Amino acid sequence: MKNIDSFSHLRGESIYLDDVPLVAGTLFALAFGSPHAHGKILNLDLSEAEKMPGVVRIFTYKDVPGENQIGGIVPDEPLLAEHHVHFQGMPVALVVAESVEEARNAIKKIKIEIEPLHIITDPREARAKGELIVPPRTFTLGNVENAWPLCAHIVEGVAETNGQEHLYIETQGAYSFPLENGSIRIISSTQGPTAVQRHAAIVLGIPMHMLEVDVTRLGGGFGGKEDQASMWAILCALGTHHLRKPVKYSLDRMEDMRMTGKRNPYSSDFKIGLDKELNIIAFESTYHQNAGAAADLSPAVLERTLFHSTNTYFVPNVKATAYSCRTNLPPNTAFRGFGGPQGMFVIEAAIHKAASHLGIPAWEIQSKNLIQTGDEFPFGQKAESEASECWVTANQVFETEKIQNGIEKFNAESIRFKKGMAYMPICFGISFTKTPMNQARALVHVYTDGSIGISTGAVEMGQGVNTKMLQVAAHVFSVEANRIKIHTTNTFRISNTSPSAASATADLNGKAVEIACNAILKRLIQMAAEKYEVPENEVSIENEQVLIFGKPVNYNWSQLIQDGYLKRVALSEHGHYAPPGLHYDPKTEKGHPFAYHVYGTSITEVTIDCLRGTYVVDSVKIVHDFGMSMNVRIDRGQIEGGLVQGIGWMTLEEIVYDETGRLRSNALSTYKVPDIYSVPKEIDIHFLQTKKENMAILRSKAVGEPPLMYGIGTYFALRNAIQAYRSDAEIPYSTPMTPEKVLMGLYGKKEVVNA
Ligand code: MOS
Repeated sequence: MKNIDSFSHLRGESIYLDDVPLVAGTLFALAFGSPHAHGKILNLDLSEAEKMPGVVRIFTYKDVPGENQIGGIVPDEPLLAEHHVHFQGMPVALVVAESVEEARNAIKKIKIEIEPLHIITDPREARAKGELIVPPRTFTLGNVENAWPLCAHIVEGVAETNGQEHLYIETQGAYSFPLENGSIRIISSTQGPTAVQRHAAIVLGIPMHMLEVDVTRLGGGFGGKEDQASMWAILCALGTHHLRKPVKYSLDRMEDMRMTGKRNPYSSDFKIGLDKELNIIAFESTYHQNAGAAADLSPAVLERTLFHSTNTYFVPNVKATAYSCRTNLPPNTAFRGFGGPQGMFVIEAAIHKAASHLGIPAWEIQSKNLIQTGDEFPFGQKAESEASECWVTANQVFETEKIQNGIEKFNAESIRFKKGMAYMPICFGISFTKTPMNQARALVHVYTDGSIGISTGAVEMGQGVNTKMLQVAAHVFSVEANRIKIHTTNTFRISNTSPSAASATADLNGKAVEIACNAILKRLIQMAAEKYEVPENEVSIENEQVLIFGKPVNYNWSQLIQDGYLKRVALSEHGHYAPPGLHYDPKTEKGHPFAYHVYGTSITEVTIDCLRGTYVVDSVKIVHDFGMSMNVRIDRGQIEGGLVQGIGWMTLEEIVYDETGRLRSNALSTYKVPDIYSVPKEIDIHFLQTKKENMAILRSKAVGEPPLMYGIGTYFALRNAIQAYRSDAEIPYSTPMTPEKVLMGLYGKKEVVNA
């Protein structure tokens, strides 16, 4: 089935925040962000700004009626700065004016005096100075200290991954409206409507039931709107609360890039030990996460780094320690993969370095150590593994030996161009690592005309979750898709939602839809059984037709629903789902945090131009574990999009902050993302469809985040191509692999030792 939004998307008719018609009297908000990355506010002078035309009011922290606090995991993030500023762009004041232009002009008249304090941008410096967001955490399995003496080869190193700008096409924004008796309605471009509601309630000092948050869809989120949409929504709500007027705030691109956090950069140390047969015996890693100036979601991101520290390998002795380091950058946050990719890069770097040291291709080590069913992850869960199946299938269907031979031949003949390839096996845990967040609700109404309206906690952000929700209901009721409408995500209809995140949205909300639909169906079947005086298990519905003893009778969906209403059968249901079997003990760092894992293997082939340092990705061939995909079109789209986003992170996308904490890559002219010319020339996806039972909705495994990590293969393929030109190239394990870095690898001077 096609994505149900494809038609209105193509015609430009889909509704995003900026498409909501303006209500008369709407005011426009704009935040004044700190010009300094760290300092003490000595004086804030609003007098001139307040006199500017169109300005209605300027708010500061003093206008917050409740708590000036929006921190989710750790209460360390004020809505508006009080006495200190901690990053450039940190909101200090909010101008509300009659037009955006007037707000912009007023902002320029705000004067702030700041006593500068020492600026930290490097996470290792932050750790050295004790600037940690939360205490460090360590995952252990076996005992690395006892294992090192057993290793034939030990390799150590440093691996660094840069951040990544979310670059959702729709920037952050919100629009709030006064309702009666002090209530407020907020239309927000958020992945987490409840997060907006909860924090708006704290800031305004009113109960959550006075805050209706409504989301039709987002023009992309990628994690950037899991937590960080709240700021803008609450600023609007603050204006509406005081002025009882509609207030809108839609960030422009540069404002969004400057003021919001990104994927957490990491600087990590690794040590890997192998025996003579290339079994990985021990792995030790230390991660320094650049959290930025506030916790935001970083502690949870950090946790997922640890959960994915061994990627898709079984390692019997592991010690992985992670530090969340406070720096003077905008608070970094969730980004597709949520720390998992950062962790996986480190062990891939370790394997690659060990392989280079041994003069063998990395895949000899990778293939030898794939996790098998029954093997234990460092956090105690036993694997139900498809790792080998993906790997072996990839070798078969893509004839990888031919690819390898082709590359060898090409490289032997070509001087200017060199090719490289790399395998990237992935393994990604599905569930929120914070166990209580694994719950969802759905509200299903069947109307008297037989049409069906569904609300869930899922937020549509282009990933096609609404299409999947519709498919679940159509499947349970066995009705035509056009009978079903998925309604907006709304906190007055669905309460206490988890954000649409962790790749788990379709599973959690889909199961809730399934439960609600089944409850209604059960009552309808009961009614039909009474009518035909047959046992309930002899009644079914197929293609909108009631069947008795498997044979159609003169009774269809419309008649069934009309009768249901007349007989006063409940045609609505609220379904609640909480996946069973999940538990985790943070004290021992052991448990069963994931409903299941998603596996896959990609093979990436690249060509570099050794004269210019530029490169193309020739092909990415993927075997991906879908369980049983319920929507091949949507899942293919998620794989392609995730892959290209991962390639961007690994190659082109370079976030640069200077030592003053100022973002230099603050526009699309200085921050390059993949375009149609930089995507792989060929993307070949093989669907590994397994018949096995799993906990996914209709056995269709989660697909949102895992494919991003296939992009990591591009980084290693590029390194291999460079090494094909210069076997002694010394290249730091540092992403992104920009053309400049390729040239450095090809021609950079080797450090002269013992000269
Ligand atoms: Mo997603 S990175 O779990 O919002």
